[in-house]
Amino acid sequence: MNKEKYYITTAIPYCSAKPHIGNVYEVILADAIARYKRQKGYDVFFLTGTDEHGLKIENAAKEAGLTPQEYTDNICEVLKNIWNMVGASYDKFIRTTDDYHEKAVADIFEKLLLQGDIYKGKYEGWYCIPDESFYTDMQIVDGKCPDCGRPVVRSNEEAYFFKLSKYADRLIRYLDENQDFIQPISRKNEMLNNFIKPGLQDLCVSRTSFTWGVKVPSDPKHVVYVWIDALTNYITALGYNTKNPTELYKKYWPCDLHVIGKDIVRFHTIYWPIILMALEEPLPKTVYGHGWLNSGGDKMSKSKGNVMFADELIKKFGVDGVRYYCLAEMPFSSDGIITSENIIAKYNADLANNLGNLVSRTISMNKKYFDKIIPEAEKVEAEQDIKLKIAFTQTIEIYSEKMDSYRISEAIESIFVALSCANKYIDECSPWILAKDKSRRSRLGTVIYNSLESIRIAAVLLMPFIPESSKKILNLINTKESSLEFGKLKSGELTKENEILFSRIDNLIKM
Ligand code: MSP
Repeated sequence: MNKEKYYITTAIPYCSAKPHIGNVYEVILADAIARYKRQKGYDVFFLTGTDEHGLKIENAAKEAGLTPQEYTDNICEVLKNIWNMVGASYDKFIRTTDDYHEKAVADIFEKLLLQGDIYKGKYEGWYCIPDESFYTDMQIVDGKCPDCGRPVVRSNEEAYFFKLSKYADRLIRYLDENQDFIQPISRKNEMLNNFIKPGLQDLCVSRTSFTWGVKVPSDPKHVVYVWIDALTNYITALGYNTKNPTELYKKYWPCDLHVIGKDIVRFHTIYWPIILMALEEPLPKTVYGHGWLNSGGDKMSKSKGNVMFADELIKKFGVDGVRYYCLAEMPFSSDGIITSENIIAKYNADLANNLGNLVSRTISMNKKYFDKIIPEAEKVEAEQDIKLKIAFTQTIEIYSEKMDSYRISEAIESIFVALSCANKYIDECSPWILAKDKSRRSRLGTVIYNSLESIRIAAVLLMPFIPESSKKILNLINTKESSLEFGKLKSGELTKENEILFSRIDNLIKM
């Protein structure tokens, strides 16, 4: 049977410094969605990579006394290590310095030039060198860059422009007809009202202020604007070229989901669709602009000294501790907060007390009362059994609906509701009391079986978020069964020796 394809991408971070937990959050988020889709049987292609050209990187390399290529080679290695550390299950890693990518970008630029979508003009206005951005007289604020507040310089030079306005009507129509294109919807309204409807200016798509980038083949003193270079990674990674796209490209494009941060929604929902329209290629199905993970209440920045790194957090909380916090704490449409105190509180409440405790007490009781042999459940169900099964059925429904609409933290919350019910079930059924009465042996077996089945289903549901721990749980109950149907765990198999999955971390770690 042919599996349905699912193509998912992250933004490609600038290769200018070690990525912080905010950048890493994005790859964890995309990874959770990719794992979920694989579990559902999709043929997933998960792309990530690095954005390696531009003035900032050229300057950072100079400061480090390295060539830009040496510099990006180093940072890319650091980034890949972190991606691997958090368990990012990507299928391909693209670097914008990869030769096939550079060649395709040069091709794309020439094609658009030849067909008249890109034209050579003159730029007269203000230029912010660090941001590599142009501004009109109206846009600058007190002679400074409206984005970063640094001084701008007068610029009067030849440059290439992309006729964005030619495609504005088509873009508006596309947004109207594809309500799911920009998620969350609030970001769509922002794009329409603030950028598209007031009128799109032609976009300057070349620079002469630096050389570290893809040169325009027919006019090599110009370098292709970094955003054209960066955005096209999503198609060049699949082997797109203007003449003879590969089978991989034909199979996976258009993209099902671009996972990006809120600050770059404009590039992905205005410039990117327009480039694709000009190339006569289909547009991505959905662009999800997630919120930012802020340190305390503040934006993470080197100057504030509040930057947090994934590798350091993993040393303290383990990979699943970090993945869990990021995914469970980030709301669908607004920013999230990360602090060590919050991670500890969430870790203890959810992972150690709720999930960890349920697994540990269930495995221990199965050893104590049944010598590790998974008991059978009686056919007749008590009221508590029915309540437990209803809780899981409801959770599975909510979970699927939330996952399919990328509301990850809400999907996770629904699992923990079911886990709390399972803990309550054990308390109410009190196996330790049943164990004292020989005539209730078969009821005891039912309670233990249902508890083991609860942790099996929870582990399957948690697999996209905390894969290592979920695998350990399934291993403890000695099963690979991934069905979400209650009652699929095989009786008669042996559970393993107990293992603490998450020990409370109150005072263990001095922050
Ligand atoms: N290079 C561009 C993306 C090009 S995509 C064709 C870029 N790089 S970046 O390094 O600045 O950001 C990479 C991603 O990390 C972006 O999606 C950005 O929104 C995201 N984040 C940056 N800081 C973040 C947080 N504090 N929290 C969550 N995501 C964050 O933009």
